[in-house]
Amino acid sequence: MRVALVTGGTRGIGEAISVGLKDAGYKVAANYAGNDERAQAFRERTGISVFKFDVSDPEAVNAGVKAIEAELGPVDVLINNAGITKDGTIHKMGYEQWKHVIETNLGSCFNCCRSVIDGMRARKFGRIVNIGSINGQAGQYGQVNYAAAKSGIHGFTKALAQEGARNNITVNAIAPGYIDTDMVRSVPPNVLEKIVAKIPVGRLGHADEIARGVVFLVSDDAGFITGSTLSINGGQHMY
Ligand code: CAA
Repeated sequence: MRVALVTGGTRGIGEAISVGLKDAGYKVAANYAGNDERAQAFRERTGISVFKFDVSDPEAVNAGVKAIEAELGPVDVLINNAGITKDGTIHKMGYEQWKHVIETNLGSCFNCCRSVIDGMRARKFGRIVNIGSINGQAGQYGQVNYAAAKSGIHGFTKALAQEGARNNITVNAIAPGYIDTDMVRSVPPNVLEKIVAKIPVGRLGHADEIARGVVFLVSDDAGFITGSTLSINGGQHMY
């Protein structure tokens, strides 16, 4: 049974991915950063093991991955999903607001990949899926930090895909559009209404609709797909 680590795996899109992978037959480790109550409720509801560590801190990630490997075995599948928003126009944005988003959303990809890549190379198998965003592809008013981090994820994915290919390690990205999660629900309602009006399918996405893409990209059937980005956004941005 393959072991999958899902960062930010107890809430929102990450929760759906954790459950989707469990249902597809993986042993899942769901990482979370801070919300103990939600994480424990998730564990009780799903039976999925939870591991608390800060993905923006390289030492914490190494310790967290060690704990996962001791309990479940080597990590074969990594889903870099953890992410935060700290929206604001640049003239109102402080350095901390910039740095926190870059380190959490993009730094985490480096930290987690760095921590599992040696094992994947040695075992000649790995599946990595990085969760980008429509706003990394198209930009978004009030999100220079988030858009830069998510755009960085798309470049990171293509570079690592080239490095991993010979060792049967595929690296892909999914770029979700606006999905019905706590993160999107925190956008001011008048702003969100205008955004939804521009989604051709006429609704927010469901977290499960992202999870199904992840389950496919990590499967053996997807072994020839690497360095790609799967946009799942209801037609809001096409390219
Ligand atoms: N383009 C051009 N102008 C815009 C604009 C846009 N998209 N959005 C707002 N403006 C204008 C407003 O009309 C307003 O102009 P006036 O003063 O002339 O009326 C001006 O900019 C200021 O707007 P706000 O009052 O909204 O400014 P604020 O400082 O109160 O808030 C903000 C700014 C925090 C960025 C707020 O607009 C906001 O939260 N926007 C949503 C950002 C967003 O979509 N975040 C996505 C979060 S979910 C996510 O990130 C998941 C994912 O991957 C998709």
